[in-house]
Amino acid sequence: MDYRLRCSRCASYSRDNTRFRCRSCGSVLEVEYNYRSLALPDNFRSLRISNGKYVPFFPVESLRAGLGEGGTQLLQRHMRITKGIKLYLKMETKNPTRSFKDRGSSVEITKALDFGFDRVVCASTGNMGMSIAHYAKVMGIGATIFISANANKAKVAKIRKYGARVVRVDKDFNEALRKAEAFALSESAFVCGDYHFRKEGQKTVIYEILEQMRYDVPDFIFVPVGNATLLSAIHKGLMEFRMLGWIDRLPRIIAVQSEGCDPLVRAYGRKSRISYMVPNTVADAIAVGYPTFGTQGLMALRDTRGDAIRVPDHKITEAVRLLGKEGIFAETGGAAGFAGLLEMRGWKGRLLEGKKVVVVVTGNNEPRGRIWS
Ligand code: F0G
Repeated sequence: MDYRLRCSRCASYSRDNTRFRCRSCGSVLEVEYNYRSLALPDNFRSLRISNGKYVPFFPVESLRAGLGEGGTQLLQRHMRITKGIKLYLKMETKNPTRSFKDRGSSVEITKALDFGFDRVVCASTGNMGMSIAHYAKVMGIGATIFISANANKAKVAKIRKYGARVVRVDKDFNEALRKAEAFALSESAFVCGDYHFRKEGQKTVIYEILEQMRYDVPDFIFVPVGNATLLSAIHKGLMEFRMLGWIDRLPRIIAVQSEGCDPLVRAYGRKSRISYMVPNTVADAIAVGYPTFGTQGLMALRDTRGDAIRVPDHKITEAVRLLGKEGIFAETGGAAGFAGLLEMRGWKGRLLEGKKVVVVVTGNNEPRGRIWS
C-alpha cells in the first residue's frame, strides 16, 4: 500500500522513509496509509492465513524476507482453572524462531533490503534479537544485536549461532536501545526493533485471530507488554478491519505486565504519562522500563475499553507450569498474558463468565538455557 511516515507526537511527515524517529521531536513514527490504494484479491478471504497473505496491508510491494511466519494455530482449550470461559490460545510459539517477533522481522528485513542496506542493528531483551539475527542471516545481510544485561544466556547463544554480532550492554533494554540507535547513525546500519515497520508486520496476529474466529469478535484479548508494539499493532489491525466493515465491534484489550516492570499499568491507573522504571522481573522478555509505543498502547486500552493489569512473578511462573501441563510450552514473558487472565479471573471472574477470551502466547524460548520443543 502507498504510505507516508508521520510522527506520532508532532504529526509532521518524514521526507526520508529510512528514518527510525521523527527528525524534529525524536518520537516514534507511524506508517500512515493511503487506504484507497489497498488492492485485495477477490479470493482474499479464502486464502490460507500467513504473513504472506497480508502483504496488501504492508508498506512493501512484496515480502522478500518472508520465511513462513504467521499462520499459527488458535487452540480452543477447556481447562479446569478457566472453567466457564471460552478460552482460545494464539500459539505464537510456532513461528520460525518461536515468537511473534518473526511477523515484524519479515517486514523490517524486507524494508532493509528494499532500501539497499547490507546490515542491520537492533536492541533487544532476547527474542527480537534472535528473530532479526535469523532473518538477516537467511537474507544474507549482517546484524549487530545490542542485548540487555538481563537477557538469558540461551537466547544470547542462539543469536550468536545465527551469525550475528552480539554487544552485551551492562544495563537494561533502554540503555541497549540508546546504544543501538547511536550505532545505526555512526555505522549506516538500518535500525530494526520496536519501530513503525515492525508494528505493521505484527498487526497480522489480530488479522489471523479474527479470520480464525470467522469474524466473530472475541470479548477479551490478553497481551503481554514490553515495548507495547504488539499491543498497539493489535489495535491498529482492529481499526483497519473495522474500517473495511469486516468487524463491527472491538474486543477489550487487556495489557499484562509483571509487578517488577509495570510502567504501562502504572500510567494507565494514574491516567498519567509513562515514566521509566528499572525493570526487575523473572519475565526477561518483557523487562522494558520505558515502552517505546507506550502512549499508543494507552490509546489502545482506552479505545477498546480495555484494562492494564500487573501480575507478580510467582504467578507468571505458575502460568508457565499450568500451560505446560496442557502440553503448551511458553517462556515466562510468553505466558504473562495467561497469568493476567488467571489474575483477572481471581477478582473480576464474573466479567469473564461465558465470554470468548483470546490469550496471545507470545514466545517459547525458555529462560534457563533449555529450549522447549
Ligand atoms: N512476549 C515476548 C515473548 C516478547 O519477547 C516480548 C518482547 C513481548 C511479549 C512484548 O512485546 O515489546 O511488543 O510489547 N520482546 C522484546 C524483545 C522487547 O527484545 O525481544 P512488545
